[in-house]
Amino acid sequence: MRQFQHRIVPEQIVTKRLILRAFCMEDEQAMFKNWTSDPQVARFMAGKAHSSPAITRGVLESFCYHSSRGNLHWAIVPNRALCDENRLTAGEPMGSVSIVRFDSMRKEAELGYALSRVLWGQGIMPEAIEAVMEWAVSHLGVKQFSAQVFAGNEASVRVLKKCGFSHTSTRQDGACRNTGEPADVLVFKKRGR
Ligand SMILES: CC(C)(COP(=O)(O)OP(=O)(O)OC[C@H]1O[C@@H](n2cnc3c(N)ncnc32)[C@H](O)[C@@H]1OP(=O)(O)O)[C@@H](O)C(=O)NCCC(=O)NCCS
Repeated sequence: MRQFQHRIVPEQIVTKRLILRAFCMEDEQAMFKNWTSDPQVARFMAGKAHSSPAITRGVLESFCYHSSRGNLHWAIVPNRALCDENRLTAGEPMGSVSIVRFDSMRKEAELGYALSRVLWGQGIMPEAIEAVMEWAVSHLGVKQFSAQVFAGNEASVRVLKKCGFSHTSTRQDGACRNTGEPADVLVFKKRGR
């Protein structure tokens, strides 16, 4: 992690098929085109699909300028081989993986993630999550990871199970999906090392 003025810039992490790097404001168009404008990606998210790049810019500003030890965001950028296989534009971010909350006293980190539909079903998100968890154990000393998933988001549940998470509880406290309908929230946990 590099500290730049008052913000934290997450370190780059390289995996077999991915480069996980800090977001920059130049990512706006790619982020909007590749995932934030897609209602299928937003289907089980708290926020709606973005109707204009200006909305994505607002999110991107918070990713770029307000990262702290409490929240860190990585852009998921496919490497050259993965781009060639999927006919993608080299260097474009195709999703995000984040530590959305970090409790430094308890050493607990909550994860959040989203991926462009064109890359679904290739095990990309488990690869990204495993890498971020490994980084978080060694750099932040994380002892417990968590993730929250709206009931019905089977793809996300599969990802978490593949990464070794277990369903520990269900929140029924009136949390709403982006349609405004209340929905159960499944809480998953996994011990860090
Ligand atoms: C959840 C998500 C990140 C999964 O990423 P991924 O890289 O596709 O994960 P995987 O390749 O491991 O696939 C996970 C599951 O997705 C489902 N899946 C695979 N391809 C799919 C497709 N084309 N369409 C719909 N679901 C698909 C399968 O159930 C798969 O499980 P399996 O491998 O046991 O068959 C991705 O679907 C996504 O971005 N969804 C929208 C955002 C979201 O819901 N984020 C999580 C909020 S808690």
